[in-house]
Amino acid sequence: MELSTQKLIHTFGALADLGQEIAGTGDFTEMVRTSMHLLLGTLALRRGAVVECTGDGPLKCVAVWGLGDQMFSGFEIEEAEKQAFLSGEATESLVQNTASANAFLNRHRDKLAAEGIELVFPMIVRGEVTGLILLGGKASGEEFSNDDFETIRAMVRHIGVGIHTHRLLEQVAQRAEENRRLYDELRAIYRDTVRAFAAAIDIKDKYTQGHSERVGKYSEIIAREMGWSEEEVEGIQIAGYLHDIGKLIVDRDIINAPYNIDAKLSSELNRHPSAGYEILAPINHPYADIPLMAKYHHERLDGRGYPDGLTDEQIPMGAKIVSLADSFDAMTTDRPYRRRRSFEDVVRDLRENSGKQFDGKVVAAFARAILKEVKGETKERRITKMLGKTYLEGEHVPTLLGDLISDLEEEVSRKGAKAQSF
Ligand SMILES: [Fe+2]
Repeated sequence: MELSTQKLIHTFGALADLGQEIAGTGDFTEMVRTSMHLLLGTLALRRGAVVECTGDGPLKCVAVWGLGDQMFSGFEIEEAEKQAFLSGEATESLVQNTASANAFLNRHRDKLAAEGIELVFPMIVRGEVTGLILLGGKASGEEFSNDDFETIRAMVRHIGVGIHTHRLLEQVAQRAEENRRLYDELRAIYRDTVRAFAAAIDIKDKYTQGHSERVGKYSEIIAREMGWSEEEVEGIQIAGYLHDIGKLIVDRDIINAPYNIDAKLSSELNRHPSAGYEILAPINHPYADIPLMAKYHHERLDGRGYPDGLTDEQIPMGAKIVSLADSFDAMTTDRPYRRRRSFEDVVRDLRENSGKQFDGKVVAAFARAILKEVKGETKERRITKMLGKTYLEGEHVPTLLGDLISDLEEEVSRKGAKAQSF
C-alpha cells in the first residue's frame, strides 16, 4: 500500500474515532483530551493544547499535552482579535509567519514560540469563536504538508462542534434547573396559599379547629397506603385541605348552628361541595381533579349522598378518600354537643358503612395505615399526633384493625370474583 493511502486510511480512522468521542455523553474534559490526543497522534505532533473562549478575556485551557502551565497565565483573546478570526482575516496561522497581520499572534508570538507552538487554529462554530487549538511541530521535524492542514482543519472543526454542543447542553441543563427551581417555588407558594385557605375555612367553623388540615393529612396517608404516586399523594393532600372551601360562602351562623338544623338551613349548608367546585374549578392547580374531589366529598356509594347522588363507580377515588378522612375526623374530634366516639365505636361505624357510605378498599387502606403505626412500623406517628396519645392505646386495637382489614379485603376479593364471573 502506498504511504499516502495508508495515511488517508489512518486519518479517516482518526476522524471516525473523533466523531464517536464527541457524540459520547461521557465526561466533557475527557472528550476534549482524547480528541486532542487523537489529533496529535494522527500527525505525530509533540505538543498541543485546546483552549476555550469563556466570554471576554482569559482563555481557559481544557486539554494540554507537552506544555507547561505558565503558558496559560495572562493568555487571553480580545474581542477585536476574535472578530479578525471570524472575518477570515486571520485564519489558522503559522506562528513564525511574521508577515501575517494576525493581531492575536503578534501579541502572543514570543510566548508561543518559546513553548514550541507552531500552529494556531481558531475553532469557529455558528459564527462564534469557541476556542483555539495550539499545535507544536512534528516529531520527525518535517514541515506540514497541505494534506496535514486539511486533516487538522477537519479535526479542529469536529472538536469545535463538540465544545459548542457541550455549551448548549450546559445552557439547556441550567435553564431546566432554573425552571425546576421556579416550578418548586410556585408549588411552595401554592401550598402555602392552600394552607392559608384551609386555616380561613376552619376559623369560620368554630367547632372544627384544624379540621381541614387533618383531613388533608389523613387523605395523604390513605392515598399513600393505596399505592398512589408521590405527585398524586401531594394532590390529594391539597384536596383534603380545600374540601370544605365552599363553606366560605355559607353563612357563618348556619355553619355554627347547633346539631339539629332545619331542612332549609341544612340544604343551605349542603351547597358547600358545589360551591367549593365553583371556587376551585377556574384555578389552574398543579394537581389533577382537586375541584372534583371537593365537589364529591359528601357523595356515598349507595347514591344517598349529595350534591349529585352519584353511586360507587361514578365517584372519583380521590373523593372517596377525602370523604372517609372527613368522616373519620368528624367522629374522632369533640364537638360542643357531643364527645368524640371511642375507637371501637368508630371501627364499628366504618365496618357497617363500608359499601354503603365508604369504599371498602379505602377503609381497608386507612386501617392498614393505622395498624402499621400502632405496631410501631412507621417512622413518624402522624395519626397518633392528630388523635392524641391515648386514643389508639389498648391491647384490643390491633385486633380490631386486623379483623376489619381481613373482613374488608375478603369482601373486596369476593366482589372482584363476582364481577369477573359476569
Ligand atoms: Fe364538607
